[in-house]
Formats: sequence, C-alpha cells, structure tokens
Amino acid sequence: MRKIAVALTKGGVGKTTTAVNLAAGLALAGQNVLLIDVDTQGQAGRSLGVTASGGLAELVAGEGAPEQLATPARDNLAVLAGGKSLAGLKRVIARKDFGGERTLAEALVALDGRYDYVIVDTAPGWDVLTVNVLFYVDEVLAPVSLEVMTLQGLMEFSQSMTDIQRYRDGLALRYVVPTFMDRRVRKSEEILAQLHTYFPGQTCEPIRYNVRLSEAPGYRQHIFEYAPRSAGAEDYGRLVERIMQDDAQGNA
Ligand SMILES: Nc1ncnc2c1ncn2[C@@H]1O[C@H](COP(=O)(O)OP(=O)(O)O)[C@@H](O)[C@H]1O
Ligand SMILES: [Mg+2]
Repeated sequence: MRKIAVALTKGGVGKTTTAVNLAAGLALAGQNVLLIDVDTQGQAGRSLGVTASGGLAELVAGEGAPEQLATPARDNLAVLAGGKSLAGLKRVIARKDFGGERTLAEALVALDGRYDYVIVDTAPGWDVLTVNVLFYVDEVLAPVSLEVMTLQGLMEFSQSMTDIQRYRDGLALRYVVPTFMDRRVRKSEEILAQLHTYFPGQTCEPIRYNVRLSEAPGYRQHIFEYAPRSAGAEDYGRLVERIMQDDAQGNA
C-alpha cells in the first residue's frame, strides 16, 4: 500500500485538483484507492459529489468503523471526508501531552493493507494536521504553480520536511508536479527549468493550464468524466502512469 500526501504550504497551487484527479485516475487504472481529505474546506470530497456524515475526525474520535466512514465515491475509489469537524480534531491533538503528531497515523492503522493507494489532500499552511499527515504517509507529492513564484515556497517546504524526516526515515519528497503550465508565458518555462535543476529526479511532466480542470468540480466530476479528451485529462493521465510505473519497478 502506497501512502502519498499532496502537499505544499502555499494555497491555490493545485493540491486538491491533483489529489482528486490522481486518485480518480489510479482508480480507473484498476487500483483500489482511498482519498483522504485533510482540509477543513472539505473541497476534495465535495468535488466528487460525496456528502458524508462522518469522516476523518470521527475515525480519530473512534465514532465509527473505518470501513463505514470511508464513503464509496466511484468504482475502486472511496473518500474519507474532511471538512469543518477537522477543527475539533486539531484541538484534540493540541491538548495531548505527548505523541500528538502520531494521532492520525495511529487512527489510520486500521486501514493498512485495505487499499493499493492512499492519497491525502492537505490544507495550505503548516499546522498540527500537516505534521500528522507527514507522520502517516511515506511519499510527498508537491504541486508547484508555474504562474507565480512558488519555487521559494517549495524550498521552504522541503526544508520543513527535513525536520520531520529525522523522525520518519521512510518519508520522501518523491514528486514535484509543475501546475498551471502555460507555454505562452516565458516565466513558466523559466520556473520549470529551475525545478529541473533543483529537483531533477522528482520533477514530473507539467500539468497545463486547462479551464476544464477548474470546471469539473462544479459538476461533481473528476476530469476523466467531465472532459476525458481535455489537456487536463491527458496530463493527469500521464502523472498516474508515472506514479504507477515507480510502483511496478519497486522503487516506491
Ligand atoms: N491546471 C489547472 N488549470 C486551470 N485551473 C486549475 C488548474 N489546477 C487547478 N485549477 C483551479 O485553480 C484553483 C486552485 O486549485 P486547487 O486545486 O483548489 O489548489 P489548492 O488545493 O492548492 O488550494 C481551483 O479553482 C482549481 O479548479
Ligand atoms: Mg485545496
């Protein structure tokens, strides 16, 4: 079972879009996938039309069995919803005298081995929930918007990850996914070149700017349903292939 967090401190870089479409693409490729929403906005579940009465917060609170709280969203794809109740979860974690950073990992142990992939969508910023996610996953995928200067943000994020890696041997920044690629914008190409310089092994093929990607959630669909022939579907399809390839080669 591979556990991948989609994370970067900066907001609006395509984290939720990437988490949802990566999870959906893997499910379409026949993998059994759980998408966990660790954002109080609850956007990941909502964009797939999932209306869940409980989710991650309830799981941690022991208010339901994992298999009941993980809501079926599509074939091979279940969602463990986030949303407002996560604010309460943050307080529960903050009140703990010790071991708070492992709260999520301990609660999610019950799901070990049930899925081929667990994809975690995270909130912007760096808080107790972010730290908890990094104590749970083994791999991090960081989307980096090529529209604005987010390279600095990626450097800082990667530095913050180093602090956690001292306690988590297996944790790695595996993928850097350039988003909002626009070939007409020269800065896009420049930032992309910088990413390849600083993160040569991790940098994936870019996700182009594609308005279909921003429309799909409004229809409660992922990109492979909403616009299967769009550039967005093509780009996320390629990302799915890359990630599964690593799997097959045993590199994960
Ligand atoms: N490649 C893209 N092309 C066009 N719009 C995009 C693309 N990726 C994301 N968006 C849109 O940009 C906004 C921010 O993306 P989102 O995934 O919510 O970012 P984050 O989760 O990092 O805050 C959303 O409205 C989303 O639909
Ligand atoms: Mg988001």
